[in-house]
Amino acid sequence: MTDHEVYMIVAADKDFGIGKDGVLPWQITKEMKYFKDVTTQTHDATKENMVIMGRTTWESIPEKFRPLIDRKNVVLTSQKDYKAKGATVVNSIEAALNLAQNEIETIFVIGGGSVYKEFIDHPALTGIYLTQIQDCFDCDTFFPDIPEKLSQVKEISSDREGGTEFKYLLYKKA
Ligand SMILES: NC(=O)c1ccc[n+]([C@@H]2O[C@H](COP(=O)([O-])OP(=O)(O)OC[C@H]3O[C@@H](n4cnc5c(N)ncnc54)[C@H](OP(=O)(O)O)[C@@H]3O)[C@@H](O)[C@H]2O)c1
Repeated sequence: MTDHEVYMIVAADKDFGIGKDGVLPWQITKEMKYFKDVTTQTHDATKENMVIMGRTTWESIPEKFRPLIDRKNVVLTSQKDYKAKGATVVNSIEAALNLAQNEIETIFVIGGGSVYKEFIDHPALTGIYLTQIQDCFDCDTFFPDIPEKLSQVKEISSDREGGTEFKYLLYKKA
């Protein structure tokens, strides 16, 4: 477990689809900037945030953009000798959470589908930053059902890019 706040952050379409063929099914520049801002910003300038992701999500990030800058990157894999340059590799969610010491402000679980599914009922989960995309894409990976103990506390804002509309929502433990 951890004393840190732990948020999932995800963009999902109307069917809670989040991915297709190992990558994002959409390209929404504003949403990518929002993800970067939320996961990077800290209240305490001496600290940084930690991002935890599955091995497939790590590999879906173009090499020139990884590790995600100004955040401690942690990659989950069951492989014992897996190397992820610039990231810390761990073999379990608990090992990932245990990496967060005083220099970390907030932990973000950034996907993908299998990691969200494993983490959705974890007692350490504080909330979810959900970007709800008001469209349907042909996805093969989905976000799990949001448990009742988490409720939508805030519509942070809404925006559009091209023909696509989306809302930034925050769910937290009741
Ligand atoms: N829309 C969004 O916000 C968003 C965000 C992130 C990702 N995505 C999308 O989601 C898709 C990827 O999701 P995915 O479910 O296929 O893969 P994933 O969750 O990114 O990664 C799965 C891999 O992570 C490792 N892993 C997961 N849980 C583990 C655990 N408890 N202990 C040890 N290792 C663990 C395993 O790696 P090994 O096989 O190496 O053991 C597993 O095969 C992509 O399409 C991506 O673009 C969407």
